[in-house]
Amino acid sequence: MIKQVDNTYILETNNSSYVFRVLESGHPEHLYYGKKMRLLDSKGQLLSDNLCEKHAFIPGNNNAYDKEHMTYTLNDMRLEFSSNGKGDNRQPFVELIHGDGSRTSDFVFEKSEIVSEKRLLKDLPSSYGECQGLIVTFVDKSYNLELELSYYVFEECDVITRSARLINNSDDKVRVLRLMSMQLDGYDSDYILTTFNGAWAREMEICKHQLTRGTLINESFAGVSSSTANPFIMLGKKDTNEDMGPAYGFNLVYSGNHAEYAEVNEFGKIRLLSGINPRGFEYSLESGCSFEAPEAVMTYSYNGYNGMSQNMHQFVKKHILRGYWADKERPVLLNSWEAAYFNISESKLFKMARAGKEAGIELFVMDDGWFGERNDDTSSLGDWYPNKKKLPSGVKGISDKIHDLGMKFGIWLEPEMISSNSELYKKHPDWAMQIPGKPHSEGRNQMIIDMANREVQDYLIETLSNLLREGNVDYVKWDMNRTMTDVYSPSLPAERQGEAAYKYVTGLYRVLDHLMKAFPEILFEGCASGGNRFDLGTLCFFPQIWASDDTDALERVKIQTGYSYGYPLCTMGAHVSGVPNHQTLRITPLSTRFNVAAYGSLGYECNFSDLDSGTLDEIKEQILLYKTYRQLFQYGSFYRTDSIYDNGEAGWMVVSEDRTKAVAMTFQSLVRPNDQRGRLKLRGLDKDALYHLYNLPFKLDIRIFGDLVNAVSPVHIKNGSFAHNMLAKFVKMDGEKEDYKAYGDSLMEGGVMLSPKFSATGFNDKTRVYPDFSSRMYFLEKVD
Ligand code: DGJ
Repeated sequence: MIKQVDNTYILETNNSSYVFRVLESGHPEHLYYGKKMRLLDSKGQLLSDNLCEKHAFIPGNNNAYDKEHMTYTLNDMRLEFSSNGKGDNRQPFVELIHGDGSRTSDFVFEKSEIVSEKRLLKDLPSSYGECQGLIVTFVDKSYNLELELSYYVFEECDVITRSARLINNSDDKVRVLRLMSMQLDGYDSDYILTTFNGAWAREMEICKHQLTRGTLINESFAGVSSSTANPFIMLGKKDTNEDMGPAYGFNLVYSGNHAEYAEVNEFGKIRLLSGINPRGFEYSLESGCSFEAPEAVMTYSYNGYNGMSQNMHQFVKKHILRGYWADKERPVLLNSWEAAYFNISESKLFKMARAGKEAGIELFVMDDGWFGERNDDTSSLGDWYPNKKKLPSGVKGISDKIHDLGMKFGIWLEPEMISSNSELYKKHPDWAMQIPGKPHSEGRNQMIIDMANREVQDYLIETLSNLLREGNVDYVKWDMNRTMTDVYSPSLPAERQGEAAYKYVTGLYRVLDHLMKAFPEILFEGCASGGNRFDLGTLCFFPQIWASDDTDALERVKIQTGYSYGYPLCTMGAHVSGVPNHQTLRITPLSTRFNVAAYGSLGYECNFSDLDSGTLDEIKEQILLYKTYRQLFQYGSFYRTDSIYDNGEAGWMVVSEDRTKAVAMTFQSLVRPNDQRGRLKLRGLDKDALYHLYNLPFKLDIRIFGDLVNAVSPVHIKNGSFAHNMLAKFVKMDGEKEDYKAYGDSLMEGGVMLSPKFSATGFNDKTRVYPDFSSRMYFLEKVD
């Protein structure tokens, strides 16, 4: 709900309020963002004086806005947006160079309008669906420019989005050095800012920063939103935890260079800015034209980080994901990459797919290596036609064979790249992003194709459309494996090179938009060397993204925990792979690899035709279980109940919308000796409902105990010997059993005291054998 009373605007969601007013000078002053509160009396009179700073005199060494407002110091005000040159020395929201060379901007209030429908952005994707909006226009009369701030309120999800548009009504060109998407100024600064920084194979590491004087920047300069610094950030108080306390979440619907600034100024006030990274950016805004900033997303919860995550998850599921697959159960897939890398052939793929079919796999994905002369990563990107030696009957041939098995067929593509060793490059060297005649830096032996070039966009739309249609393709893994260097678009004039990285992103969006419309039922999975482009812009097109190239279960617990703060489980591609793991050489149990990958869109990535029957049987059971609970794993409400970052143990839980079903998961990294403890924490249940909580019966492989087996065996067994392996085949031990009936409140307040962990001093059927990297799943059902 949006209300305007006099000069004050109140934006309300179910549980939060956002308030600002327009000062007499025409500047929008931020008053409040947080827990919902009352601001109007029974007659509709505004009661907000208490929230307004008094501005009685200006602080020393600061400047008054103008002669008429000698007590207004923009530097000490909480503003809805800020610009350069009128006394606010903090990071600006908008930064321009005018035709006369001046860098000062002075936007003041002109008008406002409350709208009942979302206005979509022109070149950028944005959220959609039922919401109310507020458009506030400011003008810089000296230069005849308009700045439009848009706010949209998504009440149910407790989300407010913002964006900005700059309109040049003057006769001169304006150089836009920055136009951010969101500015949030606050009175205090005692906040913890959480950013999600990582790298290839270790995306979304949680980094907490106690804010203090100065500016902290979370940014990507890689051309993509990046695994180095995801655009999703959080703000909380020192005491905010997963379940309690104020927590804010912010994200950006954009897939390129972004920056988030958290600044604390000399008056202890915080400013948060988010938007396109101004580094390397400059946009020439011609007379009569406009430039729009991407949409920023803000949410607030008083129920800690879990509450904040649930707002974000709801928002992404209802207002970002779109199209056929937005709310459909995603198929369980088998991907050929870690099974065969580039060394694939129709017969090999078919054999793997057939074994996968037996195990319950629904979609088979042919990864890299199927096209041109692609036998390693040195060639062929751009040559999107089948390698006849590997695929004698073409893409259609293998696709038909997979379909005949009763499975869906998926293909890997990396359309944003061009290899210098490719037919495409021979024909169109000017299609690569490189500075003509200058040496450029190397990345995976490939160059980025100039997506800013409309000719390239049209070519890709046509080539890919033909491939997908003729190949009868059901799924695409859209990869992107290098970051930008030597940023330059041969299709843009010299004075517009500051737009190259931005126009690349809008060009990509145009291609994706065409493909989504032409192939609405193809499931697209985003990928950029794993999670190098995991963001809300990408999710407007691809309903799921390959979260990381790292499939090691321990690393995945950390990575998926990181993503879970801002993104719902259905968006995360998560695979079970072989051991030793290809990224870490770590060995983790198959049950753990599954338990972790199940909290996402499940896939497998190992050679099924090489697996022994025992392993295949176990996988068959896993897939069956996943399919039974798939709705819950992909779309349930997700809670973090224990953090791997705190004590090496992770706890995850998904609860059905009606709270009749839930699945909880525990994971341990390394064993702590002589520690039998284990209390299962539960969240999100109906406190008045009675639940049955249990784990599924399972067997222990006696090889876990090594030569400890001799403590009970009548004959001596050598560890790892043939006899040991034979014994393991026939003698299986029962795992511990957990079975309880309890009310929701008891489960959430007291938890479940689990069977004691193995701690070397005893063993019986109540022992929870829980060595390094173990995990368990617990199921809950409401009992009538
Ligand atoms: C990087 C991806 O993240 C991998 O999963 C795989 O598809 C390779 N590219 C193929 O080159």
